[in-house]
Parts: sequence; C-alpha cells; structure tokens
Amino acid sequence: MNNIRNLILSSLLLLLVSCSGQKVSTVGSTADIESRVDRLLARMTLSEKIGQMNQVSAGGEISNYADALREGKIGSMLNEVDPVKINEYQRICVEESRLGIPLLIGRDVIHGFHTVFPIPLGLAATFDPELVEAGARIAAVEATGQGIRWTFSPMLDIARDPRWGRMAEGSGEDTYLDARMAEAMVRGYQGSLSDPTSMAACIKHFVGYGAAEGGRDYNSTFLTERQLRNVYLPPFEAAVKAGAMTLMTSFNDNDGVPSTGNTFILKDVLRDEWGFDGLVVTDWNSMGEMIAHGFGTDHKDVACKAVNAGVDMDMMTFGFISHLEELVRSGAVKESVIDQAVRNILRVKFLLGLFENPYVDVEAGASVQYAAEHLDAARRSAEESAILLKNDGVLPLNADRIRTILVTGPMADAPHDQLGTWSFDGDKGHTVTPLRALQERFPGKVVYVPGLAYSREKRSRFDDVVAAARRADVVLAFLGEEAILSGEAHSLADINLIGSQSELLAALKSAGKPVVATVMAGRPLTIGRDLPSCDAMLYSFHPGTMGGPALANILFGDVNPSGKTPVTFLRTVGQVPMYYSHNMTGRPYNGEKMLSEIDMEAGQTSLGNTSYYLDYGAYPLFPFGYGLSYTTFRYSDISLDAETYPADGTLTVTFTLSNDGNFDGTEVVQVYVRDRVGSVTRPVKELKAFERVNLKAGESRSLSVRIPIAELAFFGLDGVKKVEPGDFQLWVAGDSASGEPVSFKVQ
Ligand code: NOJ
Repeated sequence: MNNIRNLILSSLLLLLVSCSGQKVSTVGSTADIESRVDRLLARMTLSEKIGQMNQVSAGGEISNYADALREGKIGSMLNEVDPVKINEYQRICVEESRLGIPLLIGRDVIHGFHTVFPIPLGLAATFDPELVEAGARIAAVEATGQGIRWTFSPMLDIARDPRWGRMAEGSGEDTYLDARMAEAMVRGYQGSLSDPTSMAACIKHFVGYGAAEGGRDYNSTFLTERQLRNVYLPPFEAAVKAGAMTLMTSFNDNDGVPSTGNTFILKDVLRDEWGFDGLVVTDWNSMGEMIAHGFGTDHKDVACKAVNAGVDMDMMTFGFISHLEELVRSGAVKESVIDQAVRNILRVKFLLGLFENPYVDVEAGASVQYAAEHLDAARRSAEESAILLKNDGVLPLNADRIRTILVTGPMADAPHDQLGTWSFDGDKGHTVTPLRALQERFPGKVVYVPGLAYSREKRSRFDDVVAAARRADVVLAFLGEEAILSGEAHSLADINLIGSQSELLAALKSAGKPVVATVMAGRPLTIGRDLPSCDAMLYSFHPGTMGGPALANILFGDVNPSGKTPVTFLRTVGQVPMYYSHNMTGRPYNGEKMLSEIDMEAGQTSLGNTSYYLDYGAYPLFPFGYGLSYTTFRYSDISLDAETYPADGTLTVTFTLSNDGNFDGTEVVQVYVRDRVGSVTRPVKELKAFERVNLKAGESRSLSVRIPIAELAFFGLDGVKKVEPGDFQLWVAGDSASGEPVSFKVQ
C-alpha cells in the first residue's frame, strides 16, 4: 500500500478516536476514495481529463477564467489569495461545470503566510523539527483560511553553494537535517487530511536543482546516480514516506536530461521504487523550457515527453491543454497515461475534502490571520534560529548598565527586507523591526542613525554615525542583505557584505565602544573580514515578522542563543563548494604551510601536496553545526553499548552533557558517523542524529541517543542500498568539527 493511502488511513483512525467534537471528516476510506476517483474518471471526456491537468495563474477579472472553468478546462489555479474570488471560482466549477469538480488553489506559502517565519534556511538552524512543524501548521491555518489548499513547499534542494540565491529557501547542505525538516513541514502543512485547515505539501524541486553549476540559478547539474541517491534523493524519499501529496519537477537538466522529461527520476525512482501516488506538477513553464534546453522541438513535442515521463499537471506552459488531445488521438500518448495523471490529481482533491468543502468561510479565515499565538510562534522560531558566531564577552547586554544604545545599519528598520524571500503575503506593516522592538523596550535610550539607507548603498564617510557611536554605551549594528538579494534568480558571485557595510562596521569600531553586529541575510555571507570589526556577531537568516523582538531578547539575555549553522560558512567565495560531509581524499590536509609561510624559492618541494588552498587553507570560517551560547557545554564519558553491531541492530551512545557556565541554555547535540572503508569512498562524517537539550546553569546530565544501524546504509559500488560491514567512527559533539571519535564495528 502506498504512502498517501497509509496516511489517510492513519488520519481516519485518529479522527475515529478523537472525541473533540470538532468537524469530523466525511471523505471516506482509502477504498472509498479510489472508487470515487474511478467513478468520476469514468464520466469524464478526454477534454475534461486534460482540463484537470492544466494549472493557470490567476490575475485580473473573474470573467477572464469563467468560461474555461465552466468547460472544465482548468484543474488548478495558483496565485489567487482573495478568498471572495476563490469562492466564486469554486462556485463556477462546482455549480456550473458539467461534473462539478472543485479547483485546487495553490500558492507559494514558503515560510509562513501572513505571519512570516524565518526563511527555511533559518528554520533549519533551529535543528528543531517540532517547532518547524508547528510553524508549518500555522502557515496552513492562515493560508487555508483564505481558501489556499496547496502550498509549493517544502523546498528540499540540498545547497552547497551560497552564491545560489535559493539556498535561502531550503534547509542547507545536509541530507539528514534536510530530511527531518522535510518530514516536519509535510506533517505541519498537511495536518489531518481532509480537515479544512489541511494544505497539500509540494516537495520540490525534483531533483538536484541546488547543485546548479557556478551557483547560477536554472543552470545545469551533473550529479551521478550515486550522488543523487546518497545525497539529493533521501529528503524527498523521507517526505514521500511522511505522506507528501504532491511533488514539483525542477528546472535543471541533470547530465543532459531536464527533470520535467526525466523518466528515470519521475517513474523508476518516484513511482516504482517509492510508491508515490500523489500529484506531479511541473515548475512554472519548465515543460516549455525543455524547448530552450534543446530537449524538444516545440510545445507539442515537450508535452508528449513530459506526460510520458510521468508529469500529471502543467504549470503555465499550456502545453497539455493545447496538445494532449491531439497526442492521444495520434497514439503518441496512451489514454491510460492521461487517466493515471487525472487519478493522481483527483485523489488529492478527494483527500483534501474539496468535494465536501469547496468554499472557505471568509470571516472565520480573516480572524486567524496574525493571531497572537502565530506571532508568538514566529518569535520563538526567530529566537531559536539565530546563531551566535562570535562573543568576546559583550553579550548578553545588561540593560541596567546602559544609558544610550546606538542602533544603526541598513537592516535595523527594514520591515520588508527582514521578511526575506518568498513572503508575498506578509504585510510589512505587521513586521516588528529591531529598531521598533528596542525603542519599545527601552524608551528614551535608543538613538537611531541608519548609517546606510539600504544594504547596497555605497558611502565613504560615516561621520554622523561614528559621532553617535562615541556618545553611546553600546553600538548595535544591523547589517545584511535586502530580501531581493536572495531567492529565485538572485544568485551572487560576490558574497561579502554588500555595499559599504564592512566600511560602516569598521568605522563604528573605531569609535571605541562595544560593537555588536547582527547580520540578517538569505545566505551565509563571507563575513570573516568583518569579525575583527565587532565584539560579537549574531547571525540571523532573514527572521520574519517577529525578528525584532526575537533579536532584542537574545541581545539582552532573555533568550540564550541556540541556533547552529545549517550550512558551512566560508572564508571566501573561492572555497565553494566546501561542505563538511565531503568524501575522504587520498591526500587529506595535514596542517601544511600557507602561502605566507612557504619558501617559494624551494619550488614545489616546499609545498605540502595535500588538499588545501595555499591562500585560504583547508577549513571554512565556521563549520556546519556551529553556534555559540552564553554558556559553555562540555561532553564527557562518551561510550557505546557494544563494540560490534549486526546490520539490523541499533546502536546506543551514552554521554554526559554538562552546562559549565552561568546561564541556562540549550545545546543541539549532534551525532556524526564515518564509515572507514567502503566499496566506494565515503564522506569523512555524516550527521546521523541530533537533539536539542535544555540544561540549567551548572547542570550535568547523562543522555543517550539511539541510531538504527540501517541509518548507515548507502548506495555503494553495486548500486544497491545496504550497510557495508566494517569499521566505523562516531562523534558526539556540538558541531561537525569538534569532538573525539569512538570506534565500533558492523558485522
Ligand atoms: C517557480 C519556482 O521555481 C517554484 O519554486 C515556485 O513554486 C513556482 N515558480 C510557482 O510560483
């Protein structure tokens, strides 16, 4: 039995045992749904079937779409957020079309709807799937409150190149972390299927899109099948197992095959291996773009290739609606292929309960937007996602000892920009900026001199702001990137702080007062050169609506920072790609000399002949999983419950975690494993478990983490996923570069 069917069974069971008195689903059992799909399909004409496979973007007057809706030529609409219009579209479909099939209304609800949460990269920095699930649930409650029942999220693209603007939209570089976030978001969005607040998730972009050559969006990828299977596909598989109802194909071609026409990934892997029975939609015009790729001659040709490869719905190419009928009549596409696609679409509509509840209650929906508990959850998410990268002891600030706070920098009061990319629906009027939060908290103490009006601004003199810094007790500089500098189609070749921000920070430092830099950005910027210009640095991937209060709470010690880097921070962009789980090389870096230490006259022999850069060495600025706290954590007594494990066993690692400092705090405990010898070379380390642990100041606790040995399986030389027996090492640590390994064997 496949995954969505499993999920509906379990949600029905949940509903049966629930005696909350809330509205109970009437969608019926799995078998009922399949028979409803079949009965409806049997009544459909070929043209009505193809209509279901057509998705259009809304815009303008209702009358623009009314005829097509009446004729059953549109199965889904994206980008309509007006609930009154949505109800009217649904009414036309349900009451005026021959078969009364409701529309599936989609939207990019990526990190919150009205209440905007931190960007997904920031959510990943929390290492807190429960919090992320709760945030996705809130996004679903708000979006479905306006009639949206399908979000194009989560984005599961592993991203190891910070030049790529869309790194902001995913969980970063790591397969394991990405998979856990994927499951959490799918659960949060979809909730209990057929409940009116349930929103179908769409896992995207299938697949490899984040490995775009040179970090240039939409560019080609060249991932081997082994890389795909070991690194890029597992988050998608985890999301499918969690019941994700839909999936989006990606824009890129991998090794010459565009995803929207790739039978191997869409059929062999997704349907046959994973048993996915949800809906596959193209990305926006990605079917048409196969012509530009040179993978098809015209719209008819690419429509034929896409549908035969396993695409069910066309987003905005109009290739299906224009050509599928003819392609079926000519025999190039079998009607059974169309039937299967339509089944996948109708199944989602039945599962969501759209036939029973096509309309949204406009007033009730309006009342949940920006609800107090939503704002509260957004604040908590922003707090957990902030990463403390440097602290020379200046943080947390003691408000009692401060009379004047200078707030400066282009992100201090940028209500739109702190929302980050893909926040169409977040109204900047609701954003609480750091400036506003600090002014409310410390009336009369805050002096605001922006220094730079926006992140890209260039200026050479900062006399006004430096003078203000001299008069202040502490300088809080809010720097980073405007929202527009990351996200789709917004790649950068230079990822230093943009504009004159580094110069501003250096000027502030020259005033001689403590300087705390808070960076709000869509990617890990190369901030190494800025670290000497501040006494502390807090990194906050665009933190959303409640970023201001969250950051103020951290700076003034109400909240102890606990975020960890979900991606490696580089010293310079020339290190790309650099990620912690790289394969073991034959010549690992061994502390060899840097350019400045080398006797160049001695020629080649003076060099180390290992894998590193003469100018920037072998290491990043901050490793994956890194983040400081106001307290210090210590790991001790790390031990395993056995020396050798069977391949179907479970390992338990026990250790003591101590909070040695003066603050209560939360540590993200991380467990990494290295497979010493494989049939193919293996990563130096891979994250296999993590857990957030709260400890009081001075507290020590014995903890244990269990890892099924099956988690160590990978696709080796024979292309079969299995655990290869042999020697392993395991680390329990607070980041990917710390700790001492313990050894074990698998038989
Ligand atoms: C293109 C983007 O690649 C995709 O992520 C998004 O969901 C669609 N446009 C729809 O807006």
